[in-house]
Amino acid sequence: MRTVRVGLLGLGVVGSAVARAILEDHGMAERSGVRLELAKAAVRDLSKKRAVNLPAGLLTADPAEVVNDPQISIVVELMGGENPAFDLISSALSSGKHVISANKEVLAKRGDALLTVASEAGKRLVYEASVGGGVPILNPISDDLLANRLNSIRAIINGTTNYILTRMSSEGAAYDAVLQDAQQLGYAEADPTADVDGFDAVYKIAILGRLAFGTSAAVEGIHREGIGRIAARDFRYADELGFTIKLVAAAQRTPEGLLLRVHPSLVPLDVPMASVNGAMNMVEIEGDLVGPLWLQGAGAGPEPTASAVLGDVLRVARGLDGPGSVVSARVQSLPVAPMSGHICQYYIRLTASDRPGVLAQVAKVLGDAAISIRSVIQMDTDAESGRADLVIMTHSALEANMQEAATKLRGLDVVVELDNLLRVESYGQAT
Ligand SMILES: NC(=O)c1ccc[n+]([C@@H]2O[C@H](COP(=O)([O-])OP(=O)(O)OC[C@H]3O[C@@H](n4cnc5c(N)ncnc54)[C@H](OP(=O)(O)O)[C@@H]3O)[C@@H](O)[C@H]2O)c1
Repeated sequence: MRTVRVGLLGLGVVGSAVARAILEDHGMAERSGVRLELAKAAVRDLSKKRAVNLPAGLLTADPAEVVNDPQISIVVELMGGENPAFDLISSALSSGKHVISANKEVLAKRGDALLTVASEAGKRLVYEASVGGGVPILNPISDDLLANRLNSIRAIINGTTNYILTRMSSEGAAYDAVLQDAQQLGYAEADPTADVDGFDAVYKIAILGRLAFGTSAAVEGIHREGIGRIAARDFRYADELGFTIKLVAAAQRTPEGLLLRVHPSLVPLDVPMASVNGAMNMVEIEGDLVGPLWLQGAGAGPEPTASAVLGDVLRVARGLDGPGSVVSARVQSLPVAPMSGHICQYYIRLTASDRPGVLAQVAKVLGDAAISIRSVIQMDTDAESGRADLVIMTHSALEANMQEAATKLRGLDVVVELDNLLRVESYGQAT
């Protein structure tokens, strides 16, 4: 049986699980026909307690020892962040090693450059674990679904925000309270910005956009909204209307090109995405031959992520193709479409003065922007302050028109606040 020597860059949450599985073999040699050998692991702090016991001499504080070791043929980058990961991945590829990475940030921001280095070096750069943790997504797209012209990918690809939204929905709890609890339970980082403001989902949808549609989008150019404005009452109102609320990341083929967007959306209660709860991830792919397809599972965590990482390691060790370097060369690349051209229904929640004529003024602003109202519901009314929650569902409208109308609505005397403006995910129903 062939032995393939593997070097790790990073031995944290994921790196430790990967190292443990390699050291214990986990039946991988028998299943794959290749024996993996852990040759070296680079960390920042040699004195830190690890979740895995490595044989003496394997740990180093110098990543160059991994990248330059002639005995290592596969480098697994599990450090995270843009730098020094970018330089280390580039060096490893240039010095003739295949690289496996779970690092969505570096792949979203510098993926084109890294794939070029890989292609020039004739080496593989594969990164299944960077999107959806343990859920196989990139390999199915670049392999099993290659016969399809993909039309759209919509996904719940951030477990932290899905956990928070699920608890807000089921408990009627406020965002801040659930976030705090999620931090204590380890579902959210001490600094939750990357998750709750949508950056993590943007990185992942950028990777999917490049892989599935050949579109290289600058991450700063991808429309991004976080979940911070969602209130418990939005779930209550959405539910009455037949929806729940999810942070959706989407890459969709439109006449203008590929539309990439990350924002909270109303999702109909009767579609599979609506029942993806807790820290689970789901990716919904629509291809012209296969139709709609749903891939669901644990989007993070040491073992699920190690499953994806090691799947890539074994694929490369066995000399098989991986995603990334293959598909983008085969698909016709689509330009990035502007968010202003997006068309969907909208949910608008306003705090308005509870007096006659309010609705007429709101309807006029929307009508002037060519937006027609599908339904209006006056929800909680506060007699003391003379204010009421007004929830408006529109018919399909153009994003540019909706944004213009939103600005005007905010300027109306009768509108105390435009509390929330949420898009509705369309599933081919009549609008
Ligand atoms: N955690 C998940 O569930 C998950 C899921 C999917 C993808 N990912 C991705 O997997 C990657 C790793 O995540 P993680 O959660 O395992 O991170 P982590 O626990 O913070 O581990 C990072 C590791 O990299 C090492 N490291 C960082 N900078 C270094 C440097 N300059 N030189 C040498 N070593 C360095 C750290 O060393 P020390 O230990 O000495 O500090 C640590 O061992 C990230 O790209 C992440 O986005 C994670």
